[in-house]
Amino acid sequence: MSEKAKISYGGKEYEVPVVVGTENEHALDISSLRSQSGLITLDYGYKNTGSTSSAITYLDGENGILRYRGYPIEQLAEKSSFIEVAYLLIYGELPTQLELQKFEGDIRNNGMVHEDYKRILSGFPSRSHPMGVLSSLVTSLTAFFPQSLDPNRSPEGVNLSIMRILAKMPTFAAWTYKHKIGHPLNYPSPHMDYCSNYLHMMFNQPGTEYEVDPVVSNALDKLLILHADHEQNCSTSTVRITGSSMGSLYTSVSAGINALWGPLHGGANMAVIEMLENIREDGGDTKKWMDKAKDKDDPFRLMGFGHRVYKNFDPRARIIKKAADDVLIKLGVSDPILDIAKGLEEVALNDEYFVERKLYPNVDFYSGIIYRALGIPVDMFTVMFALGRLPGWIAQWKEMRENKEPIGRPRQVYTGYNERPYKPLNER
Ligand code: ACO
Repeated sequence: MSEKAKISYGGKEYEVPVVVGTENEHALDISSLRSQSGLITLDYGYKNTGSTSSAITYLDGENGILRYRGYPIEQLAEKSSFIEVAYLLIYGELPTQLELQKFEGDIRNNGMVHEDYKRILSGFPSRSHPMGVLSSLVTSLTAFFPQSLDPNRSPEGVNLSIMRILAKMPTFAAWTYKHKIGHPLNYPSPHMDYCSNYLHMMFNQPGTEYEVDPVVSNALDKLLILHADHEQNCSTSTVRITGSSMGSLYTSVSAGINALWGPLHGGANMAVIEMLENIREDGGDTKKWMDKAKDKDDPFRLMGFGHRVYKNFDPRARIIKKAADDVLIKLGVSDPILDIAKGLEEVALNDEYFVERKLYPNVDFYSGIIYRALGIPVDMFTVMFALGRLPGWIAQWKEMRENKEPIGRPRQVYTGYNERPYKPLNER
């Protein structure tokens, strides 16, 4: 028997059903509350509002747990590959050997983009931010594949759209960078794995055949796994809400890229490096910057710290911190900002302000240090995040469509003027 909760207001009592998830999370289903009572709920930033039910990712912020389709992130990061994780997220189960081979093969064979993309790219000034270019290139897939605009096409048609975007995104990302620096573009190779192919397109130069270092491609693969999904965050909610208007996969993902861009979300990885550089140039006084972050009159925040849902630790940050140490040692890179990052973390973890507010390093605090060691330029960091988050966005868009969710349309509490008559210009 389903549980109910009672809400009393204005001398009346209303009953709303309680929905229980598979990890025993309880939620009040208030969808009938307004028709019963005229009440809506108000929750700025959706801090305590579930927008959907989902079987993709489980996250327990109090205990630092993150699982994709039930599999702990620690095990996936250690044992799986990004493409296998993408399959898991999108189709719900780990692939068999045969399924994985087919999936990988399809992705390898779909990396090419139309030559006209070169003309599209040439229209962007070289100072364009790569995230803006990437979202435009993804939107323009609708022009090359207009059938993709129909989200209700056959499952095979939807799968084709999925395959295309997964396969072409590395090409878009690498071409965005090459165009920015004015270098010739490299074509995707069907003979390379996902990360090696991307690195080759990023770093190969005419005359010098770029050899992909397995340390670099494995580290990148792990980073992409760690970013692959994170339930209903800002960009994923944007993808779902865009798709809920019957928006296509490509337009929804493009919207997600734009939502990810901001420094409070995926853009934090770039902001962290800029912040650590500033601290270094300023003499490395971490306490001074901590004080700035705590000062309510100063807009500065410690980038890479704090999270809406993790209130104990971010499990991805733990894996990345260790991976950063390993990668730097393996590549023989010494990065002075790693020491600054560690120093800052130590000070913050023992500081009353940060402890009280449960502010811990998040996934972005150390990821930028690895990207730097891999040779990825700072303004491409958020693009790397988008590349990693793509399977999650696809899985969430697909789930939303399959569950036939209604169009996303929140309500509001209006606080503006009551009705007033229009005043002609000469009376104002
Ligand atoms: N530095 C200093 N103070 C902080 C920080 C920070 N990084 N983060 C939160 N706080 C303080 C706030 O000022 C607030 O203090 P108050 O209660 O005295 O007013 C309190 O902690 C709670 O912060 P909120 O902003 O209410 O928390 P919210 O859940 O809305 O924000 C967010 C989460 C956006 C991640 C925030 O912690 C932040 O801005 N962090 C820095 C940016 C960042 O690293 N973003 C990446 C997040 S991970 C990701 O998206 C992949």
